[in-house]
Amino acid sequence: MKQVLGFDVYGTLIDTHGVISLLETMIGDSAARFSIAWREKQLEYTFRRGLMQCYREFSACTRHALQHTAESLGHSFTEDQFQTLIAAYQALPAFPDAVPGLEKLKDTGCEMHAFSNGQREAVDQVLENAGIRSYFGETVSVDDVKTFKPSPKTYRYFMEFTASSPDNAWLISSNGFDIIGASAMNMKTLWIHRNKQIVLDPWEFKPTAVIDSLEQIVEHIGD
Ligand code: LAC
Repeated sequence: MKQVLGFDVYGTLIDTHGVISLLETMIGDSAARFSIAWREKQLEYTFRRGLMQCYREFSACTRHALQHTAESLGHSFTEDQFQTLIAAYQALPAFPDAVPGLEKLKDTGCEMHAFSNGQREAVDQVLENAGIRSYFGETVSVDDVKTFKPSPKTYRYFMEFTASSPDNAWLISSNGFDIIGASAMNMKTLWIHRNKQIVLDPWEFKPTAVIDSLEQIVEHIGD
């Protein structure tokens, strides 16, 4: 049976903290802390908008989170700096294990899709800029169902869109909430646990396997 792999994008293939060096030129030593707070607020906004059923596209969550983080950490960016940071978000780098991991999967006969909170065009652009768009078939965007991960609607939509089922549909993600969301929908899941300081929530849903890098996916597909 053909295995259908859905790759989470931001935080899994693409390093959302790739803006730190640019932030350093603007706010110096606070850059790393700022980047973490920006990402956390962005995700919080997706969760809250999902619960409120008050959908706005992912890029709005990213912009609003940048505004909030700047204000709450006491930084004021010029309009130019703000736009530069938003543009940098579209040009974030791939993690170093992305190309080697995807290369290993390329000839295995698996179907590979990007599956993201981001809108299709934005995701295609970020993957293109990072040099990894060509590894994937269609980009599956939650924008089509107007809510965010981990809503069950998003994982159901991935399976519908790719004509897959819990028998052969995989989610590959570094985001714990994403792994739990897909596992709850009975998808097979691989948690990419690069950063050992991150702990998975002790819920009743567990990943199919926990691996250190995208390079190890190939050892688990077909399980
Ligand atoms: C994504 C989020 C989880 O790419 O960042 O779907």
